[in-house]
Amino acid sequence: MPTRRIAINTGGGDAPGLNAVIQSAVVSAEKLGWEMYGIRDGYNGILEPAQYRGRGMIRLERGDVDNIAHLGGTILGTSNRGNPFRSVRPGETSEVDRSDEVIWELNRREIDGLICVGGDGSLTIASQLADKGVRVIGVPKTIDNDLESTVLTFGFDTAVGFATECLDRLHSTASAHGRIMVVEVMGRYAGWIAIACGIAGRADAILIPEIPYDLKHVAERLARKRAEGCDYAIVVVAEGAKPSGGDVSVISREAGRADRLGGIGERVAAELQKLTSRETRAVVLGHLLRGGSPTPMDRMLGLMFGAAAVRGLEQGKGGGGGVMVALNPPQIRYVPLKEAVAQLKTVPLDGNHVTTARALDIALGD
Ligand code: F6P
Repeated sequence: MPTRRIAINTGGGDAPGLNAVIQSAVVSAEKLGWEMYGIRDGYNGILEPAQYRGRGMIRLERGDVDNIAHLGGTILGTSNRGNPFRSVRPGETSEVDRSDEVIWELNRREIDGLICVGGDGSLTIASQLADKGVRVIGVPKTIDNDLESTVLTFGFDTAVGFATECLDRLHSTASAHGRIMVVEVMGRYAGWIAIACGIAGRADAILIPEIPYDLKHVAERLARKRAEGCDYAIVVVAEGAKPSGGDVSVISREAGRADRLGGIGERVAAELQKLTSRETRAVVLGHLLRGGSPTPMDRMLGLMFGAAAVRGLEQGKGGGGGVMVALNPPQIRYVPLKEAVAQLKTVPLDGNHVTTARALDIALGD
């Protein structure tokens, strides 16, 4: 029997734990006697081979990945511009569907299983490739934790841990100056990072995309806190939060890409300063939340997902539309890719996070 060959790629924004997935998938595949190939920068390694001097797709062996689970980033590189269904060739402006080139190259190399590690965008691409006959196992990745069908995505725990440490540090400087500190964190469509670090980091107000805010309510809460004898405050705002009746803060728009969000922290700080007549400063944590070493929890999750992806291929899964590995404690399940990307997992308004925040007298802007 010929040696089985599979491939892996990482797409979209990086998240701590990606290297753990790669390590685990490569070692698991090698144990089965399979060959593993890594595609560089999403699909760019296939679509733009010249950029990689013929090394856009590389053989990955145990020795290449034995000691990477603790490292942030991804040894394969990633891209959030590399959608093969809407690809823009270097030097051109119009989008073309180049998915057949990806499939042709996978077939040429006799690759019969593709592990796609990504968030909703990359997994939607994976699902489209699966519809065209590629055997696909998706692995959910995003610091935003906004993927339906899995209780947790790796990267989230690392992001929340770091954001909470930052809030802890801001308490002392905010208190020393009697200031209001507004902290902007990532979270495009869902406020999981904001609400988790805000509760753990003892914020006074948390603004999330799911609850359009009115800063008058926040100002009232901060005035009450001051009347109780505490003259500083911490406000956490997710980058995708918006005022009631208003819109999200967009830095730039580009065809074929999600809008670049940012600026909400400064906007909230300026308005709060006006409403409260108190000195207010903004801090943007942004990409710091994606960097650094994954927490033990994210390493574990990445290692479990990588092994489960190869196990799924061994069990013959991934054909007929593809599947995604999903954490459904205490088990890892395989859910149809289409189901996994059908809708985003936002913070439920009647869920534990929101009810806990309200019980703690944290203002949510409504
Ligand atoms: O991974 C998702 C995310 O963290 C979003 O919260 C954020 O909007 C996006 O990445 C920013 O990604 P980039 O700056 O790499 O385009």
